[in-house]
Amino acid sequence: MKILFVMILVSFSAIANDGVYSFAKSDTCKACHTQIFDEFFSSMHANSTPQKDMIHNAVWSKHPQNVKQNRYGCGKCHTPAADNLDKMMAKGQQAIPMQDNETHQAGISCAYCHRIKSIQLHQKSNINVISSAEKHYFGTRDSGVTSPYHEIIKTDNEHFKNGNLCIGCHSHKQNKSGLNVCTTEIQNTEGGPNCVSCHMPKVKGGVSQISTTKTHVFHGFSGAHNHSNLLQQYVDLSLYIHSNHFLVMVENQASHAFLLHPLRVAVLKVRIVRGEKLMPQKNELFVRVIGKDGKPAMPWVANTTLKDSMLKAKEKRAVKYNVSLQKGDKVEVVLGYYLVNPKALKPLKLQNEKVATEFHLFKQQVFEF
Ligand code: HEC
Ligand code: HEC
Ligand code: HEC
Ligand code: HEC
Ligand code: HEC
Repeated sequence: MKILFVMILVSFSAIANDGVYSFAKSDTCKACHTQIFDEFFSSMHANSTPQKDMIHNAVWSKHPQNVKQNRYGCGKCHTPAADNLDKMMAKGQQAIPMQDNETHQAGISCAYCHRIKSIQLHQKSNINVISSAEKHYFGTRDSGVTSPYHEIIKTDNEHFKNGNLCIGCHSHKQNKSGLNVCTTEIQNTEGGPNCVSCHMPKVKGGVSQISTTKTHVFHGFSGAHNHSNLLQQYVDLSLYIHSNHFLVMVENQASHAFLLHPLRVAVLKVRIVRGEKLMPQKNELFVRVIGKDGKPAMPWVANTTLKDSMLKAKEKRAVKYNVSLQKGDKVEVVLGYYLVNPKALKPLKLQNEKVATEFHLFKQQVFEF
């Protein structure tokens, strides 16, 4: 009996050293943090798995780790609460996300995110350091009431305060050729705009069913899939009229490129309404195309950026239209995007999936002359 006990202990600590922890289910938080739970439940963090995110699944299906190795290295960021994350991450092992494994389908769960103690910076991609204290969830409080469920007297963690909590997964991801597939500039400052202040604004409703607070930070994580209306204020559209042309200015106030994932393509659509006449102008595309040998390629094949017209961090871009406007003209400006570049739909077999083919209207404005 004694020997068996020791063996279990030894193998457990070996797993723990590899970074596999067990996390409370997000369902556990629901009873008290009902509104936060509901927001989270429909966010991409709760839906980051191949079974729940069709676009992720389409890319994963073609990935060599899937086709050749049967191993899900993506788990580091897409299923970080997985009970066999160590196997997913280890070459030579076989471990893929399963529909019936709750720890896989938990996505980036409440307890996972709130147990990130610090972040290690690495060249390929960063690493989240997880606290081993199961029920101590980090936040921003240096004092507070106690919860019947967990410790909240002192939860403050600098990374929650300055927004750096997000950069363990979001800062960058480099492929084998050393190409950064995605990069998010990470100049976060406490108090200033940062990942948390822009993507998790304060909204109505208490922090918990027990508390008397009137607001809480939004856990729906506004982004390209969901709630992009909450981010509209960070992109300005304006019109400059000259005698023989006009300019539409697009100003991206975000601290990172307008869209980040290389699958995305943003479109600026401009139309002049002159009396009864509609005069659509040529669409302007904002896109970053990665590839190899001069052709677009999948993220694991690409070794260079072929083209990058994406709106950069803090960039103000002028787009010129060679039309002289007349008194009474209306200029309709629409900025939106496709989650999947229409050119990539067929290779990914997504041409019949609405989420991949639909145009997302981000912001629209009408200027009158
Ligand atoms: C270092 C962390 C990290 C790893 C590892 C990672 N991803 Fe991601 N992935 C992200 C983040 C963060 C996003 C959200 C980016 C955004 O929306 O701009 C994302 C988004 C995506 C998307 C877009 C999904 C959508 O619904 O639009 C696809 C596709 C994707 N990842 C595929 C993969 C695949 C396949 C792997 C494994 C081979 C993988 N990722 C590994 C962090 C990671
Ligand atoms: C029995 C009720 C209860 C349950 C269950 C519960 N909490 Fe809480 N939690 C509270 C209370 C009460 C507070 C204090 C905040 C308030 O309501 O004003 C709180 C506060 C927090 C905070 C805020 C810390 C800060 O610094 O702002 C975090 C983070 C948190 N809970 C995470 C979780 C997570 C994750 C779960 C599920 C694994 C969970 N809670 C489950 C009652 C609960
Ligand atoms: C454990 C890794 C991880 C951490 C930590 C993390 N994210 Fe994410 N995030 C992801 C992944 C993976 C996706 C893409 C999910 C998908 O589309 O399948 C994502 C998607 C998003 C999106 C896109 C949502 C949409 O509608 O398209 C936003 C916005 C976002 N995260 C913001 C944040 C913020 C803000 C933080 C910090 C508070 C954060 N993330 C922390 C992994 C992480
Ligand atoms: C000043 C506000 C602001 C700050 C600061 C900011 N963002 Fe964004 N973020 C935006 C805007 C605007 C968009 C584009 C609109 C959209 O995707 O709906 C966006 C989009 C995103 C997306 C979706 C991109 C895609 O291609 O799917 C992710 C993921 C994201 N931000 C994560 C982060 C992270 C992580 C940080 C911190 C390092 C951060 N953001 C800081 C405003 C901000
Ligand atoms: C991607 C990471 C991430 C995930 C997933 C996440 N949170 Fe949070 N949460 C944060 C950050 C960052 C803050 C701190 C924001 C602040 O106070 O400025 C926060 C704040 C909180 C707070 C305090 C809210 C307030 O307004 O003071 C509670 C409670 C909480 N989270 C509970 C939860 C619960 C419950 C879940 C799952 C249903 C969850 N969180 C999922 C990152 C996350």
